[in-house]
Amino acid sequence: MRGRFLSLEGGEGAGKSTQVRRLAEALEARGIPVVLTREPGGTEGAEAIRGLLMQGAVNRWSAHTEALLFAAARADHVEKLIRPAVESGSWVICDRYIDSTRAYQGAQNIDDAAILALHGFGSKGLLPDRTFILDLPEGAGAERAHARDGGAHDRFGARGPDFHAAVAARFRSIAAFESDRVRVIDASRSKDDVTTSLLDALADLLP
Ligand code: TYD
Repeated sequence: MRGRFLSLEGGEGAGKSTQVRRLAEALEARGIPVVLTREPGGTEGAEAIRGLLMQGAVNRWSAHTEALLFAAARADHVEKLIRPAVESGSWVICDRYIDSTRAYQGAQNIDDAAILALHGFGSKGLLPDRTFILDLPEGAGAERAHARDGGAHDRFGARGPDFHAAVAARFRSIAAFESDRVRVIDASRSKDDVTTSLLDALADLLP
């Protein structure tokens, strides 16, 4: 029996990694086999591309090159890990996926149709069965991320509040246009409340 493919998305400091783990535990407690993974990365090849993307100067790659690198990492991840795991019956939970490219590279003027075309070519357009966008009020994520990282940045963490607001707006617009697949979850509440909302928004897919 086919498993399911879920993705969690959101800006920095929204608590994605925590909720990915909590969701995995809740599904495992129901007897569902879970595979946890992340993007960029998840396979040996995609993790190598992640190294290229995350390290170095902010201007190391142009937005176009970045879009290609994210698409290449995703193609390897989908082919070698996500598709086989779902086909063998596991539920794959991915920390970020295609909607991150649409939000982050989209906010740098990379056309949404071009991003989806690359996804069609690289990953046969595979979309999650459900995507959760962990949403925070403007500015709240930056505070949480600063508390977590103590001001240390990778190439992507060094961007300003306007950029993060543009990313958040793109996530919300994806959710508005693709409401069957994508659900917005208010991430400003307690960890327990957020996990409960995730499970509620998954109720129709649970066995
Ligand atoms: P990561 O350390 O995984 O960040 P987070 O804890 O915020 O999930 O870094 C991933 C960074 O890469 C993050 O800033 C978002 C960015 N990103 C893109 O710009 N495009 C993409 O397609 C993906 C998957 C991530």
